[in-house]
Amino acid sequence: MEASPIITLTDLEDLAAERLDPHWREYFAGGAGSERTLRENVAAFSRYRLRQRVLCGIESVSTATTVLGQELAFPLLVAPTAYMRRAHEDGEEGMARAAATVGAGMCLSTFATTSAAAITAVAPNLPRFLQVYVYRDRGVTREIIDMAIDAGFSGLFLTVDLPVVGSRDRERRIAWEFPEDDLPMVVFAKERGLDAHGTVPVDPALDWNYLEQLCESVTVPIVVKGVLEVEDAVLAAEHGAAGVVVSNHGGRQLDAVSPTIEALGAIAEAVGDRVEVLFDGGIRRGTDIALALALGARAVLAGRAPLWGLAAGGEAGARTVLELLRDELATALHLMGCASVGDVGPQNVTRIGAA
Ligand code: GLV
Repeated sequence: MEASPIITLTDLEDLAAERLDPHWREYFAGGAGSERTLRENVAAFSRYRLRQRVLCGIESVSTATTVLGQELAFPLLVAPTAYMRRAHEDGEEGMARAAATVGAGMCLSTFATTSAAAITAVAPNLPRFLQVYVYRDRGVTREIIDMAIDAGFSGLFLTVDLPVVGSRDRERRIAWEFPEDDLPMVVFAKERGLDAHGTVPVDPALDWNYLEQLCESVTVPIVVKGVLEVEDAVLAAEHGAAGVVVSNHGGRQLDAVSPTIEALGAIAEAVGDRVEVLFDGGIRRGTDIALALALGARAVLAGRAPLWGLAAGGEAGARTVLELLRDELATALHLMGCASVGDVGPQNVTRIGAA
């Protein structure tokens, strides 16, 4: 039998790079500034070591967990990357079906090329959340949130690290524009009279009061996505958030900030007993997920990795990536002597060099 050409995510990443329209490849792959943080998000994992344990008597491991009360077969949500249909015609619907098949969850972008209701139609059992960009027009923002809640979405991920778009050299080089017509939630907002602000129509002056008001006025939990500092994680907990995502927006916003894996431990220590601490940035392997769990994450979000799968092979390609990450995580847990994700903690990791 011929060996499968897809053994690791890198194989799919190479295929994706070949198949993506070069313009969109730059948009998806690029980061802010000189892309130090983009590179460091991946590289910084190698400053940590998992600890192997032996003779633990484990027959099999469970990777199951919950996020905001939703059951997942393994601790991963597909991150809210924009414009998935530009990566492959299967788009967000294909990604949702792939995630549902594998038992992952999904956080749909406000800048998705499909609606929340369409995701529910193709994957009614998928644990699903909406990523929210807040417009200056709070009424229209609320209408979009309500449509997702009506479509069975179980929580909101409020993105707080994009009051303005980061300085993105690659986007400038390709004269990137924000094609709004592809995005049903933006089209909806424009039909309600939304005014664009800069290149994307978000409110640049959002503050903690808005978070508090939103938490008080919706029935679903709210996660603050884009926290890198302990002070902000504490403020998020104090203002009613149910969770935080330790994230630097995939290195696309403020260049030269910490890689997320280095920010995670202190944040988990400060607020992990009060809110769910999630993590994104640089996840390429099951062992990366294991490291994030050991440093205090309840679950991770992965953006580019499943997107490369989608770009390389549509829904089936995305499913392959998610299966690889799930199976690599299960193997890692077994070799770490952990029978379940709940057993993973600081005792499973060491850091090399000074923090
Ligand atoms: C949108 O969220 C982007 O990072 O381009």
